[in-house]
Amino acid sequence: MTLKEKAYAINFDLATGLSESKTSTKRYLADMKKLFNHVELLEDSIQQGNNHMVYEYYSVDADVPKTDGDLHFGTSIVYPGKVGDEYYMTKGHFHEVLATGEVYLCLSGEGYMLMENPEGDWQIEKFIPGQAVHVPPRYAHRSINIGNEPLVTFFTFRADAGHDYGTIETKGYRKLVVEKDGQPEIIDNPNWEQ
Ligand code: NI
Repeated sequence: MTLKEKAYAINFDLATGLSESKTSTKRYLADMKKLFNHVELLEDSIQQGNNHMVYEYYSVDADVPKTDGDLHFGTSIVYPGKVGDEYYMTKGHFHEVLATGEVYLCLSGEGYMLMENPEGDWQIEKFIPGQAVHVPPRYAHRSINIGNEPLVTFFTFRADAGHDYGTIETKGYRKLVVEKDGQPEIIDNPNWEQ
């Protein structure tokens, strides 16, 4: 460890979550084929020329060291929309260092943080502006937008934790949040693989 470390600062818009000084990572419908339940509706939308952006996020990976004493952070913006009855959402991930918690603070919009651990326990918390959600260590986490505006959150976690997207892309989530009669409802994922 050196005695001198460089501080780092970045601006995020409190309403949109966007930053002018960085490029975000963008996820479109075509990047989410393994995640949405109704993949045929997703394919239809793409074929009709509507490969909508589902979410984007900022990562400070390249700007802050990835040591166990550092914190990484950024914003996540999930856009409003649905594939069939399934709300737009993030892919969701475990951390490579599984026993890593994370904190999300909702800046704007409305939605849920859906979490599950490898043993099958699952939890869900509401996102409304000003509400912070602690994701416990060992829980996969996915943000879901149930409103008509972008769901914007700020997150921070241990810098060396890494991301495991593959487990969710392969097995899926045990639970899904869908719209039924105009209201969000939590259902079992019919395509979940043990
Ligand atoms: Ni995370």
